Amino acid sequence: MDTKIIKINENKINKDLMEEAGCIIRQGGLVSFPTETVYGLGADGLNPQAVEKIYKAKGRPSDNPLILHISSMDQLYPLVKEVSQLAYKIIEQYWPGPLTLIFKKSRLVPEIITAGLDSVAIRMPDNPIALDLIARSKTPIAAPSANRSGRPSPTRASHVIEDMEGRIDMIIDGGSTDLGLESTVLDLSEGRPVILRPGLITYEDLKKIESQVIEDQGLDRENEKPRSPGQKYRHYAPEAEMLLFTGKVEKIVEKIKDEARRLVEEGLRVGIMATEETKSSYKDGLVKVVGSRLEQGTIAANLFEVIREFDKEEVDIILAEGIGEDNLGRAIMNRMTKAAGGRIINS
Ligand code: TXA
Ligand code: MG
Repeated sequence: MDTKIIKINENKINKDLMEEAGCIIRQGGLVSFPTETVYGLGADGLNPQAVEKIYKAKGRPSDNPLILHISSMDQLYPLVKEVSQLAYKIIEQYWPGPLTLIFKKSRLVPEIITAGLDSVAIRMPDNPIALDLIARSKTPIAAPSANRSGRPSPTRASHVIEDMEGRIDMIIDGGSTDLGLESTVLDLSEGRPVILRPGLITYEDLKKIESQVIEDQGLDRENEKPRSPGQKYRHYAPEAEMLLFTGKVEKIVEKIKDEARRLVEEGLRVGIMATEETKSSYKDGLVKVVGSRLEQGTIAANLFEVIREFDKEEVDIILAEGIGEDNLGRAIMNRMTKAAGGRIINS
């Protein structure tokens, strides 16, 4: 399949090109588009055959449900059983934005979207190109991140091209995404609200609106059914092995220096994922700066890009600095832990 790649400036949207993209969605094809978090791989969310193509193109297990993206509130009501007072309060503050909400689903939502669950994930993205595409398509757009299953989520059109060229109809290049990590997923479908995936909207933020909110403890126990099926799969994985170092910064730096020296002596190509504040401490290995410890947002924005860069450099192993788990740090460490496949060295 030929993948058409178009460039769209979000401040000056080309209507003819966007109309072409909307037409592909309406006809059951696949279009990758930018959101404020990561690039999505979109299809008509009410057309099961179209949604099926998403799973195929990604190589994604079909028991992992998808998010429906909407551009206006009137698209929400037909998809859900009810919208609670709490949901309205949260929506008022955070939509459009990097927050996905889980509701009890209506009968309109196809099985293939929810992987058989009785709930549905919905998000209104805060990106003019994404909103334009949804409005033109006149349907909720089902969209997972536009990476091959298991790979880091794409934050630039070039990442989507790497993973998806030849497998989908169109890629809309709208530049690099602003935030760089996927949306927070908040389950409002039963009783107490639960954060199923940490993201840019933090526990601390949500706690201010609803003191009952809790964080899902995830999948530490074997055999337990996860509330968010996505959590059981390996994610964001670089080709190289990745080790994540946690603890006090000074200790992390010492340990990475020792480990890098040892591995380089063994003849390995070593990548070090460092921060602005620590980069000058390292003498061995290929050092890349992911961002500043003083501005967690910079780390969120660059994390997936830096993992892909290490792959291009064909390093054998990545030694990554962990950061504090407060606020946005929780979402960053969640992605880093998954990228490392749980290989954590605590000091
Ligand atoms: O920022 C984002 O959320 C991006 C952009 C493209 O919008 N999308 C994204 O989609 O990250 P995806 O498919 O990669 O992740 C969706 C997550 C998965 O962990 C999935 O298991 C969970 O949401 N999810 C979807 N529907 C659910 C449901 N009904 N109940 C629980 N978890 C659900
Ligand atoms: Mg994903």
